[in-house]
This record gives sequence, structure tokens and C-alpha cells, in this order.
Amino acid sequence: FFLALVSKVLLMVVLLEPEEVTAWSGDNVTLHCQGPRNASISVLKWIRTDQESDQYVFFRGNSSNETSQLRSYRGRVELMDPEMKNGDASVILKNVTVNDTGTYECEISTEGSEDGGTKSQFTLNVEGEFRLR
Ligand SMILES: *[C@@H]1O[C@H](CO)[C@@H](O)[C@H](O)[C@H]1NC(C)=O
Ligand SMILES: *[C@@H]1O[C@H](CO)[C@@H](O)[C@H](O)[C@H]1NC(C)=O
Ligand SMILES: *[C@@H]1O[C@H](CO)[C@@H](O)[C@H](O)[C@H]1NC(C)=O
Ligand SMILES: *[C@@H]1O[C@H](CO)[C@@H](O)[C@H](O)[C@H]1NC(C)=O
Ligand SMILES: *[C@@H]1O[C@H](CO)[C@@H](O)[C@H](O)[C@H]1NC(C)=O
Ligand SMILES: *[C@@H]1O[C@H](CO)[C@@H](O)[C@H](O)[C@H]1NC(C)=O
Repeated sequence: FFLALVSKVLLMVVLLEPEEVTAWSGDNVTLHCQGPRNASISVLKWIRTDQESDQYVFFRGNSSNETSQLRSYRGRVELMDPEMKNGDASVILKNVTVNDTGTYECEISTEGSEDGGTKSQFTLNVEGEFRLR
């Protein structure tokens, strides 16, 4: 049922230019994702496109399944707007490490809107921080 809903809703996909973000180890990084402003977001997925995994960086949807979140991201990802008002599906990734360097993609499915899904991509580059004592 779930898959059927998603494929029905993901009619149109808009792929924006990948944005590049550079951060320092320990920073909190905001990954922006804007869905249709006038539709409620039913499913939001943030994935790493450069990693083979069926797990997510962040997932919000009708079936909540905590084990579907990648272990290294648990407890570190928060919605900017917990209610995802106006299609804002941006997340804050806290305390990034060099291991968070990679390509991220958000994927949105909406309810009650024919223009359906939105995707946007990010390349995050985390520089190590070296402290000399
Ligand atoms: C990141 O966010 C946490 C909690 O939201 C805060 O305590 C911390 O100071 C922030 N770190 C930076 C580098 O802004
Ligand atoms: C937003 O959605 C509501 C109901 O779904 C509709 O009445 C309204 O006209 C829409 N507004 C715009 C700007 O599309
Ligand atoms: C979740 O799915 C169930 C069954 O398909 C449906 O009855 C319910 O309204 C859905 N809830 C939300 C918040 O979409
Ligand atoms: C949760 O997700 C994991 C991995 O994706 C899967 O193996 C498991 O069956 C799921 N559990 C539920 C309750 O959906
Ligand atoms: C940030 O991550 C590092 C290691 O990855 C950890 O040692 C540190 O305690 C974390 N800081 C916060 C504020 O969670
Ligand atoms: C990055 O990943 C490597 C290998 O998985 C691990 O050994 C290392 O501790 C990780 N570094 C941080 C800062 O989490």
C-alpha cells in the first residue's frame, strides 16, 4: 500500500542543481529542502546517494521505523520546522564529522497535490579540524 501511494504521488520530479556546502567538523549544518508550499508533506526522506543502503539519513512518514535510520545519524538530525509548514523540509545535521562528507538528497511526497514530488541534492564537504596543543 505504502509503495503504491508513493509511486502515485511522485508524478513529477524536479531535480535542482546540487548545492555545495562546506563545514567544519563539529558544526551544525542546515540542508535545505523546499517542497510545494501549498501541500502537506506526507513522506520525507533524506538519503545519502553515495552510499549503498536501504536506510535513511532521516525519514518522516506514515510508518515510523526507527531502525530505518542510518546508525551514524541517529539523534543528530532534526527538522528545521517540525510541522514542515509551507513545504519546508529542511533538516539540521548536528555535530558533523568528516564521515558525513557526501551527497545528500531529499525526496518529498505530498498529499492532495497533483504536482507531487520534489527532490533536491546537496554535496556536503566536512573539513577536519586539527588542534595543536
Ligand atoms: C549545535 O546545536 C547544538 C544543540 O542544538 C548546540 O548546543 C551547539 O552549540 C551547536 N553547535 C554549533 C557549532 O553551533
Ligand atoms: C491552497 O490549497 C487550498 C486548499 O487545498 C486552496 O483552497 C487554495 O486555493 C490553495 N492556494 C493556492 C495559492 O494554490
Ligand atoms: C496512515 O495510513 C493509514 C492506513 O493506510 C491511514 O488510515 C492514516 O490516515 C495515515 N495517517 C497519516 C497521518 O497519513
Ligand atoms: C524497519 O526497517 C527495517 C530495515 O529497513 C526492516 O527490516 C524492519 O522490518 C522494519 N520494521 C517495521 C516494523 O517496519
Ligand atoms: C560531537 O561528536 C564528537 C565525535 O564524533 C563527540 O566526541 C562530541 O562529544 C560530540 N559533541 C556533541 C556536542 O555532541
Ligand atoms: C569515521 O569512520 C571511521 C570508519 O568507519 C571510524 O573509524 C572513525 O572513528 C569515524 N570518525 C568519526 C569522527 O566519526
